Amino acid sequence: MDTQAIFDAAQTAWDEARPVPPDGAFVPGENLPIMKGLRAELDRDAGRAFALVYMDPPYFTKRSQGDYEDRWASFEDYLVMLTARVIAARELLAQDGCLWLHLDRRAVHYARVMADLCFGGPDFLVNEVVWAYKSGGASRRRFSNKHDTLLFYAKDRRRYKFFPQKEKSYNRERKPYRFQGVEEWEDGEGWYTLVNMKDVWEIPMVGRTAAERAGYASQKPEALLERIVCACTERGDRCLDPFCGSGTLAAVCKRLGRDCLSIDENPRAIAIAQTRTKGAPTCHTP
Ligand SMILES: C[S@@+](CC[C@H](N)C(=O)[O-])C[C@H]1O[C@@H](n2cnc3c(N)ncnc32)[C@H](O)[C@@H]1O
Repeated sequence: MDTQAIFDAAQTAWDEARPVPPDGAFVPGENLPIMKGLRAELDRDAGRAFALVYMDPPYFTKRSQGDYEDRWASFEDYLVMLTARVIAARELLAQDGCLWLHLDRRAVHYARVMADLCFGGPDFLVNEVVWAYKSGGASRRRFSNKHDTLLFYAKDRRRYKFFPQKEKSYNRERKPYRFQGVEEWEDGEGWYTLVNMKDVWEIPMVGRTAAERAGYASQKPEALLERIVCACTERGDRCLDPFCGSGTLAAVCKRLGRDCLSIDENPRAIAIAQTRTKGAPTCHTP
């Protein structure tokens, strides 16, 4: 695989993209020209740069996903598409902003190499987060594939925003330690302390009967996006979702008091995302 040739083709696609000015918070259409339109907007007002870009593209399943196609002429073609969007995302980030790239086993390792080239080297990767879930179906021929991988890149590795999140850590034998100065709590499973969150996240997928279910292929759980938004942005920050699907990031941003711009080439996705966000509670706390 000639990664430099893929990078060069992606850079050319970005350079040659004709800017389409975004109109509103939910923009239907091919994302690259709209991202170019956003880039032109930043030339006029750098203060509009994004704190977070979350990208949840097709994963190279080589199949129709119902709501969108995930078939490609070649893996190289797919990587050129993805890399051009990573280049675009990086240009749209504020100096302390970050990109979260959500993929699975099919393309994530190649995408890591391409994104390293876009950001300037492997040190710009802050975390590789594993999202582990349960879903129907199991394999007799291999371990069942039950996780996605999210690559978290910082535009500037010395000054990106990060607010540690907490998670439960159960005590050995689930009994209280009673160490001085250590706060402990108890729930139905036993005694625990709160520790800084690790990079493996167990979060259920959106269930068939879940209230948040929007009826769109590959919808991601709000709990997953909430962690990302809380860890990497502050109230009032601007976020971008160029592959928005059902608008999970937009719904979470509305609830948490962040601005969000959502793009999708499928008009049905935009309609769902808009309706879903209208219904979402608005954050009124300062
Ligand atoms: C994996 S889904 C996103 C799911 C979303 N995160 C959610 O929670 O519902 C990928 C989406 O990207 C959209 N898409 C694919 N290629 C695109 C492109 N070049 N420009 C804009 N949207 C695109 C598809 O229509 C699809 O809705």
